[in-house]
Amino acid sequence: MKSLTSKYGGWAIVTGASSGIGRSFAEQLARAGMNLVLVARSEDALQQTAKELHSRYSVQTRVLALDLSDSIARETLDLETLDLDVGLLINNAALEQRGAFVRHTPNELSDAIEVNVTAPTELGQRFGKRFVNQGRGGIILVSGSIAYQGVPFLANYAATKAHQVILAESLYYELRPHGVDVLGLSPGLTTTPMVGRLEQAIKFSRIGVMQLQPEYVAAVGLRQLGKRPSSVVGAQYKFFAMLTKRLMSRARGAWLFGFLMRIAFADKSLLNPSAEDATSDFKETILLDRSSSRIANRDCELACSK
Ligand SMILES: NC(=O)c1ccc[n+]([C@@H]2O[C@H](COP(=O)([O-])OP(=O)(O)OC[C@H]3O[C@@H](n4cnc5c(N)ncnc54)[C@H](OP(=O)(O)O)[C@@H]3O)[C@@H](O)[C@H]2O)c1
Repeated sequence: MKSLTSKYGGWAIVTGASSGIGRSFAEQLARAGMNLVLVARSEDALQQTAKELHSRYSVQTRVLALDLSDSIARETLDLETLDLDVGLLINNAALEQRGAFVRHTPNELSDAIEVNVTAPTELGQRFGKRFVNQGRGGIILVSGSIAYQGVPFLANYAATKAHQVILAESLYYELRPHGVDVLGLSPGLTTTPMVGRLEQAIKFSRIGVMQLQPEYVAAVGLRQLGKRPSSVVGAQYKFFAMLTKRLMSRARGAWLFGFLMRIAFADKSLLNPSAEDATSDFKETILLDRSSSRIANRDCELACSK
């Protein structure tokens, strides 16, 4: 079997490399001898990762602290890597969202779409073009096992992940004749900081799902790249995907996931789509802001009068 470097060249880009699955991809690529461009917003975490990987595996690294919801940042990633022999792109960064769809603000919804859909699509196009021109390359689009049916109460997040699978499955065939491998990687629930945040509201243990390890997910991704258009990670999640894809209607699949989410959500108020509820949260924030600014003004008046 060809090594990753002989197949894809010397450099890989990993977005969302500061933690979780992205951090594991970076570690495994470094172990395979690939130099790394590490991308996320948290510069300190990226620098720390870069330092560790360099000292452990003697690979070169380039840290780019970028917010991928910004189109200029996406262009910067392209421009700042023009001098490198990049052959692999791991599109992994994403923002999670939870709770009733109408409770989210329009900005929250569009931020997730920018990071989870627009960024991987645009980077896929930019680097896909480079890879086609050089006649070799690989792109992994990290999706999720929830991408195969509607998921009530994780609606926007699941929809963004569905986009990744369809894009990857289409590009697998489109780019393959040009020497470019594409994989849609759909992990099940994986122990990462993202799941830590979700678990503040959703108790996944209530629905009996098992958690995968990020190292395992990244290893499966690198192993499956070039072999198939998309891959669900984890036996339990493969079973769920098979159930909703082959044995159930799409409507029944969405119903099943809605049922499971109703059980798993610990904070049931997040399931309530009532606009009044969302507005009252919003009002509370404004009242808090107003009262803290009143306190700040009073403190300032006291200080200034001294
Ligand atoms: N964990 C799971 O159960 C699970 C299941 C299925 C699929 N996935 C997918 O796996 C991928 C990795 O998630 P994870 O679980 O490893 O979560 P994570 O540890 O929270 O990682 C998310 C990464 O994305 C980066 N990121 C977020 N917003 C960004 C932005 N605007 N610009 C640049 N980078 C940004 C984060 O870094 P900064 O905050 O420093 O920017 C972080 O490095 C995601 O695509 C997720 O949807 C996860």
